[in-house]
Amino acid sequence: MTNPDSHVTIHMAASLDGFIARKDGRVDWLETSDEFAGGDTMDPEIVEAFLKTIDCYVMGSRTYETALRFEAQGFGWAYGDKPTFVLTSRELPRIRDSIEFYSGDLAQLVNGRLRPRFHSIWFVGGGAVSGECLRLGLADEVRYSILPILIGDGITFFEKLDRDVPLHLTEVKAYKSGTVALRYEVRGRLQAS
Ligand SMILES: NC(=O)c1ccc[n+]([C@@H]2O[C@H](COP(=O)([O-])OP(=O)(O)OC[C@H]3O[C@@H](n4cnc5c(N)ncnc54)[C@H](OP(=O)(O)O)[C@@H]3O)[C@@H](O)[C@H]2O)c1
Repeated sequence: MTNPDSHVTIHMAASLDGFIARKDGRVDWLETSDEFAGGDTMDPEIVEAFLKTIDCYVMGSRTYETALRFEAQGFGWAYGDKPTFVLTSRELPRIRDSIEFYSGDLAQLVNGRLRPRFHSIWFVGGGAVSGECLRLGLADEVRYSILPILIGDGITFFEKLDRDVPLHLTEVKAYKSGTVALRYEVRGRLQAS
């Protein structure tokens, strides 16, 4: 049963031409060196306080594999000790107690297990899982951070959408780094639930 107090957000960073990773999965281009004089700064304390408001994360196995590589390279684990649900039909290494693997119906996971238990549920990629989340009408909000770079080709923000998804723009923020953060409400989501 859907809990009206719960909120599902999809968040990813993308190039201006709409890619979240290169075709081979690399995200080296996320490190950009632009400077936008009129932009806001991301105060680490505000970011930390904001991250505390997220109750759990959901990601696809290929995103998890990138997170595993980052951790192995010494960049750490970006999801703290928050429960993290990894969608996979494979056996993957479980590197933290907070990680749970799930295979099957995404609507059942979100509506049957996550919404009754968590308030703020964040989908953090990749394109396949975000597309599935939108196709199934599970998302309340889309947060799209556009980086100041074009990469020409790659994995798209939303894979294989089979219909239009109308959105309502709720926030626009430009940062000193040249990143523009867009926030949209998924229109019609309340009627759908
Ligand atoms: N720029 C950003 O902000 C950002 C954010 C996130 C990810 N990324 C990048 O995007 C790339 C990954 O995106 P992607 O679209 O290729 O893949 P993805 O969405 O991360 O993972 C897709 C995989 O998840 C598994 N899966 C999905 N739904 C499932 C379900 N209902 N039940 C069981 N398993 C399910 C399947 O793999 P199995 O074979 O394991 O079943 C599927 O192939 C990586 O390179 C990552 O670094 C970038």
